[in-house]
Amino acid sequence: MEHIKEITIGDLHFVPYLTADMLQEKVSQMAGEISQKYHDKVPLFLVVMNGAFMFAADLIRKLDFPAELVFIRVKSYHGTQSTGKAQIFMPEDVEIKDRHVIIMEDIIDTGNSMSFLLPELQKMNPASLALTAILVKPEALLHDITIDFPGFEIPNKFVVGYGLDYNGIGRNLEDIYQLKPS
Ligand code: IMP
Ligand code: MG
Repeated sequence: MEHIKEITIGDLHFVPYLTADMLQEKVSQMAGEISQKYHDKVPLFLVVMNGAFMFAADLIRKLDFPAELVFIRVKSYHGTQSTGKAQIFMPEDVEIKDRHVIIMEDIIDTGNSMSFLLPELQKMNPASLALTAILVKPEALLHDITIDFPGFEIPNKFVVGYGLDYNGIGRNLEDIYQLKPS
């Protein structure tokens, strides 16, 4: 596509990888599947900030029923401590019990954040718990995580755009770009 060019963010160069059209087509398919399975269930979508904001905004507009959304954060602590240490931030008044919950993520990379979040939410006794993510890096996955509504499987290379950032920059890009091999 001619209008899409190589981009530079800070010290890194990125090349076009998934176009806005490809993303919209995939998100439409995913929304169709979710609509079919959930339109009678009044599901609660938990949108994991910040990365999932664009995917969530697109997907929920393609659902065939009025939906409820809550924005959450999962903060993981890297460093000397082992993986799996994390904290969930969500509004206090959110009732998970007996709800059909669908987590919306931008990307499942190592799976560390979801391997923490999923059991924590399960403890709150939802009626059901499902996960959707627009991107999955199967080669990077360190945990046995089921992605109920997966988008694209991509190689283990850093990507930006469509909600994903590099050092805080690039979330607004409507296409997804992949790190250029140096
Ligand atoms: P996890 O490793 O599966 O826990 O991924 C956690 C988070 O890392 C994701 O939700 C993204 O915000 C971020 N992340 C993982 N891979 C990438 C990438 O290629 N580009 C930008 N952010 C990423
Ligand atoms: Mg994220």
